[in-house]
Amino acid sequence: MRRAPTSHRADHPPRPDRPPRPDRPPYGPRPTRQRRAPHPHYRTTRATGPPALPALPALPAPPYQPHRRTTRTADQCWEKTVLLDGRSVVITGAGSGVGRASALLFAAEGAQVVCADVREDWAAETVRLIAEQPGAKGAGVAQRCDVTVPADVDAAVATAVGRFGRLDVMFNNAGIATPVFGMRTEDHTLDQIEALMAVNIRGVLLGCQAAVRQFRAQGGGGVIVNTGSVAGLVGWGGTVYGATKGAVNQLTRGVAVECAADDIRVNAICPAAMPATNFMVPGAEAGSQGIGEEEARAVGASHPLGRPITAEDCAAAALFLASDAARNITGVLLPVDGGFVAQ
Ligand SMILES: NC(=O)c1ccc[n+]([C@@H]2O[C@H](COP(=O)([O-])OP(=O)(O)OC[C@H]3O[C@@H](n4cnc5c(N)ncnc54)[C@H](O)[C@@H]3O)[C@@H](O)[C@H]2O)c1
Repeated sequence: MRRAPTSHRADHPPRPDRPPRPDRPPYGPRPTRQRRAPHPHYRTTRATGPPALPALPALPAPPYQPHRRTTRTADQCWEKTVLLDGRSVVITGAGSGVGRASALLFAAEGAQVVCADVREDWAAETVRLIAEQPGAKGAGVAQRCDVTVPADVDAAVATAVGRFGRLDVMFNNAGIATPVFGMRTEDHTLDQIEALMAVNIRGVLLGCQAAVRQFRAQGGGGVIVNTGSVAGLVGWGGTVYGATKGAVNQLTRGVAVECAADDIRVNAICPAAMPATNFMVPGAEAGSQGIGEEEARAVGASHPLGRPITAEDCAAAALFLASDAARNITGVLLPVDGGFVAQ
């Protein structure tokens, strides 16, 4: 049923119990509300649009840093981003592959690098390449060093201290591969097993010992980066080699915990297959020869990202771990593997 419309209050007499409000007539039609006069600006904006904004001040002439208060030249900006400014570094296996790429990158980032390698001629070539690098802030010095020999490793550290005053970063990178690609565990001779263990385990262990002794003697902490492998993280063929890299990974974590109180950080990079180094080239004649492009593509296809890993990829990871950007990172095994071990 439809309700009858509410009647206007004018139809009703005032209620006797309430006094009439002084501001209104006691009854009768509701007074019409007075509309305020429009703001004078209102008509102006409707008619002509918003008033014009004041003109912006002109930008300063380049070089110009919009986010900085003071203007710095491009060269000064570069100075600020150098990650290893003046750091004294030893890199083993610096005559080829990851070691050479790291020596070049570290020197570009301001480091003074002792390029240590059992192949002194390859190390000397790395030093020459550092000197030729445009804009490199650091420098290199070649050092013959067999990482299986304690005196050689100590001498590499002594060179860093003698030439550059201290040791800041030790990169234990030298390593050798399974003698024949795809070789099964039971086919390794005792000599082959011992050679793998000597270079890959003893070499890294001696490097850690020499570096930690020097870091403790000079004070102020230090950084060790080791080169492990994804073969030390997962079963991947080349089992004897993988076992040596598993040992490197474990050494990394153990020394990291042991030395953390002295602010000595220890981390490892764990590369997957790198076809452009000498690792898969037995009897290589020159630093970083690499295998053919066809094989390189096949190796790359085995990684989820589908690209072969390069020595430069590993150098970039090592640079991060060596720099203060990683100052709160220790005991980490960083895969550089295009997602291989994530599978
Ligand atoms: N290339 C790969 O596929 C791959 C994969 C995983 C891990 N790695 C690891 O990366 C590291 C670097 O390998 P790379 O690919 O640059 O190989 P590479 O063969 O190009 O470089 C190794 C360098 O180590 C030097 N070296 C070998 N024995 C030495 C010794 N006893 N003392 C001092 N120096 C010695 C060599 O002369 C060479 O310059 C190694 O530890 C290797 O095990 C390589």
